[in-house]
Amino acid sequence: MAQLWGGRFTKQTDDAVFAFNESLSFDKRLYKVDIKGSICHADMLGKQGIISEQEKDDIIKGLNSILFDIEEGKLEFDPTCEDIHSFVEANLIKRIGDAGKKLHTGRSRNDQVALDMKLYTRDEVEEIKALVEELLKVILKKMEENTDTYMPAFTHLQKAQPTNLAHYLGAYFEMFLRDRDRLSDIYDRMNLSPLGAGALCGTTYPLDRDYVAKNLGFVEATHNSMDSVSDRDYLIETLSAISIIQMHLSRFCEEMIIWNSNEYKFVEMDDAFSTGSSIMPQKKNPDIAELVRGKTGRVYGSLMSLLTTMKGLPLAYNKDMQEDKEVAFDALDTVKDCLKLFAGMLDTVTFNKDVLAKSAMKGFTNATDAADYLVKKGMPFRDAHGVIGQVVLKCIEKDCSIEDLSIAELKELSDMFDVDVYDAISLKTCVERRLTKGAPGAIKAEIERYKTLL
Ligand code: ARG
Repeated sequence: MAQLWGGRFTKQTDDAVFAFNESLSFDKRLYKVDIKGSICHADMLGKQGIISEQEKDDIIKGLNSILFDIEEGKLEFDPTCEDIHSFVEANLIKRIGDAGKKLHTGRSRNDQVALDMKLYTRDEVEEIKALVEELLKVILKKMEENTDTYMPAFTHLQKAQPTNLAHYLGAYFEMFLRDRDRLSDIYDRMNLSPLGAGALCGTTYPLDRDYVAKNLGFVEATHNSMDSVSDRDYLIETLSAISIIQMHLSRFCEEMIIWNSNEYKFVEMDDAFSTGSSIMPQKKNPDIAELVRGKTGRVYGSLMSLLTTMKGLPLAYNKDMQEDKEVAFDALDTVKDCLKLFAGMLDTVTFNKDVLAKSAMKGFTNATDAADYLVKKGMPFRDAHGVIGQVVLKCIEKDCSIEDLSIAELKELSDMFDVDVYDAISLKTCVERRLTKGAPGAIKAEIERYKTLL
């Protein structure tokens, strides 16, 4: 296949150069958005009288037939074409002859590829947003089922204070809600069409850029042609947003892996989402959670890669920018897989409510509440903190919990203790009476609010 730009060359491209330069092997997945953009471009060329109505109709018909044939598996990507844009154009000319040669009027591959990547990324942002919403629904369902599942909450991975599982899961709900909204923000900011920027400085043809933009679902056309062809901010923002999603998934996975361990047994993963060991017959491993945690690295890598590619690029288009594709495609594919798999895993996990509650009762998770009890009786908090410290020491000696001490034993350390202390430091009180905004006792109201957000 001759190159689109063969005119001023006297030699064939060296094979190794072609192989190094080509992008069809990975940008072929842009065929749909490339054709969509070309159809709208041709339609506008016709409307503006830059090509005839007949030529416009022939081009659009030809492009639609190419799309149909690719989707039906009747048209293979020709590896001698440099990129998806050359492939579609060459095929169009093969199908409709001279009219096909007019498609590229007033257009460059620079604004074409800028458009294609934006259309592709915009669709991906929508798709990922929908997957985040699916995950939010699963989390919310688990929250509703677990408003009275008591468990310990941790700081430094040490038991800190008691909570309920709904509240714990609610923290992840908040994270993924921010992720969803971040994707919406990115969508709105990127929603301007670069098509018609030409190679970099626009064109003398009377293009109607806003008309094409609207037909492609953009709010309007971009405002600076040099920026239009060299802007990949929206892609960096998207990779950044999905890196944050992966970070959230990875943290959640880490919890699931710890909770699934023999020592914790807070959860039991479904057999369908676990794998075994080839040597140790007893094993049931949380491989999916580990893989999602592991794949976070490659998504971060894509962000670093593109940031570094763009760093120091002078205006406007530079071939370096072709390097945006493989890493972005890989990262977008990865985050979609991770979101789907993780949602399935969470949906099928069993929370061992008894183990969670028992664990909440051990480890002095009610020590803060015991101190607060003394404060309510009139003791300054710092003194109460000291008294409960002594209570805890005594419990460690006796290998018991605070509520296991008799009232006489408690009175030895402070005469402010009374029998009502047992109710004040019960698991139920500790969780349900934490009614401040955002606390476990207030989770039911938050669940109602979350429902309105989905
Ligand atoms: N394959 C190229 C890319 O992805 C298309 C744009 C080529 N433009 C050019 N002037 N060489 O960036």
